[in-house]
This record gives sequence, C-alpha cells and structure tokens, in this order.
Amino acid sequence: MRLGGMGMAPELMVLDSEAEVAMAVARRLAATVAQMPTAVLGLATGGTPMPIYKALIALAAEKRLSFRMVRSFNLDEYVGLSASHPASFAHFMRENLFDHIDIDLARARVPNGVAADLGAEAASYERAIAEAGGIGLQILGIGANGHIGFNEPGSAFNSRTRVVDLAEATRQANSSYFPAGESVPGQALTMGIGTILNAREIVLAATGAHKAPAIAATLAGPITIDCPASALRLHARVTIICDRAAAAQLP
Ligand code: GLP
Repeated sequence: MRLGGMGMAPELMVLDSEAEVAMAVARRLAATVAQMPTAVLGLATGGTPMPIYKALIALAAEKRLSFRMVRSFNLDEYVGLSASHPASFAHFMRENLFDHIDIDLARARVPNGVAADLGAEAASYERAIAEAGGIGLQILGIGANGHIGFNEPGSAFNSRTRVVDLAEATRQANSSYFPAGESVPGQALTMGIGTILNAREIVLAATGAHKAPAIAATLAGPITIDCPASALRLHARVTIICDRAAAAQLP
C-alpha cells in the first residue's frame, strides 16, 4: 500500500505481530548480505531492533551467512558513554548482534561518544561512510516524537552527523536501559537526517501502540521538521514495516 500526499510515498507493510515485523526486517538484512557480502549496513539500537537482531542471528546460522566482509555504521551514541558502559549503543550492538555473528569489529563502527573532539569524530564518521561507498541498507526505528537516529523534532533535513541535545521525552523513554539511579545523558552523537537520506535503501520498523501517532504523522501528516521521520517521504526507496498496533492511526 502507498500512502501520503506529496513526496514519494514509502512502501508500507502492516504485519500481525512484532515477531513478524522482526522476521521481515531480518530477512531484508540477510538477503542484502547474501546478495552482496561486502554490503554496507546502517544499524539502529533500541527495543525495536532487539527481536530483529535475534531473528537475524538465527537466519545467519541457518543460512551459514557470513558478515566477515560487511561494514556497518550505527546511527548514534550517547555523549559521555564509552563502549564498555552497559547502556551505550556500542555495548548494545555487541550484546545483541556483533558477538553472535562473524562480523569483524574493526569494520563495525559506532560513533565514539567519548571522543576528545566530538566535532572531529562526527566529521570522521561522515568521511568513513563516504569512503565505504555510502550506506546500502539503513535500518531505522522511530521515536514516539517521530525522531530517527537521535534527530529530534526541529532537525534540518540536510543535517549531517553532529552532537545534538536530547528531548526530555526521549531521555525518559530510554531511562529503562540505564542502571537504576543513573541519568540518561543530555546529548548524543547522531547521523543527520541528510546522512540517513543518503542511504540507497531504508527500512523503518515500528511496533506497539505507542508508535501509532508517530507512524501516522510520518506517513499521512505534512512533510515537516516537526516530524523528522516525515523526511523519509523525500527518498525513493523506503519501506516502513509495522505491526497492527503501530499502524492503528493511519487513515
Ligand atoms: C532511540 C534511538 C532511535 C530509536 C528510538 C526508538 O533513542 N536513538 O534510533 O529508533 O529511540 O527506540 P525503541 O525502538 O526502543 O522504541
């Protein structure tokens, strides 16, 4: 089904359950790597990708899929958290995916949130993506406020990797991933919306009723910086895969 007025209208898949969404996205990832063992993947963190990576690990084992030549770039990282911090996205990726496939960790990059010069880290991240030939398949989740990566409402559609301030609602939503008593950092390093839109193909996954307003705004609202994910309607190859709960507010 294709929705939305102006723009290119992403392809929308509505599936029955979170497990089906996870399997559909995992299959896309596996097919990309099977077709091109040197694929460049853009990866996401959060609750939504967890079952996706679980399904991908199973598929990789079943199909004897090798990630040895794959390169990956994660969307974002908290400023101030090193890769050993349990709530860092670098830690998340090892725990939920990298430690369970044969990817070369030297080829799997996550922005360095403790770089002495964060501006230089952001510039080097952009350079590394370009030198890898650009991202082939970018996986995205979506924040309840429509953010992608950590591009909060108000982010420019041509923004690149940079340091951003996190919305209070985002810090609250992510606090459950932090050890008790520890507060969520106020800033993050994130690929920009422009960086994301440079990917050749984008798959956004959304599950649960709390994502329904963001999915409706993304697909059926105006294309506006107030809903960062609405920028995806400016891209020719986007698939949005949601469960019924996340699709419930679509017209
Ligand atoms: C996080 C990440 C996003 C993610 C979003 C939703 O903070 N920076 O990349 O898509 O918020 O997360 P979840 O899947 O846990 O709802």
